[in-house]
Amino acid sequence: MSKKTLAIVKPDAVINGHSGAILDLIIKAGFKIKGMKMIHLTKSSAEGFYVVHKKRPFFGELVEYMTSGPCIPIALEKENAVDDYRKLIGATDPAKADEGTIRKLFAKDIQSNAVHGSDSDENAEKEIAHFFSSDELLNNY
Ligand code: RTP
Ligand code: MG
Repeated sequence: MSKKTLAIVKPDAVINGHSGAILDLIIKAGFKIKGMKMIHLTKSSAEGFYVVHKKRPFFGELVEYMTSGPCIPIALEKENAVDDYRKLIGATDPAKADEGTIRKLFAKDIQSNAVHGSDSDENAEKEIAHFFSSDELLNNY
């Protein structure tokens, strides 16, 4: 099983000043940061990143939201990274997220939900490559 996953602190959380608190929770949960940057996604980059949702009714709004301000992609490492990070962030809809999860603490609604997390090892690899070249990641990642 891969130890890699991609997190993103999404634009609502960055704009509302939650980036530091979210990073603290990620680090305290045992994840190591192997790459991190702040970027403002272009429309085509956001469309490419969420291409699996292209046919969904919320796709246009999702791209608008993800390009509304800067976001912070973070390449993470931990045993069981994908599943453990999904547990840490909680359900997509913060109203359904468990107490203490990042989305319960910081998300506004089902769209502006503070953070992203990869949903499989295969997608983690693709998503990390979407944001980072090899020289932007620590050598032992
Ligand atoms: P993510 O990929 O960002 O980690 O979120 P997720 O797996 O929990 O949820 P997913 O189904 O992959 O949806 C991707 C993102 O689209 C927005 N969304 N809006 N308006 C809606 O009903 C709706 N549903 C999803 C959210 O920003 C969600 O995280
Ligand atoms: Mg997803």
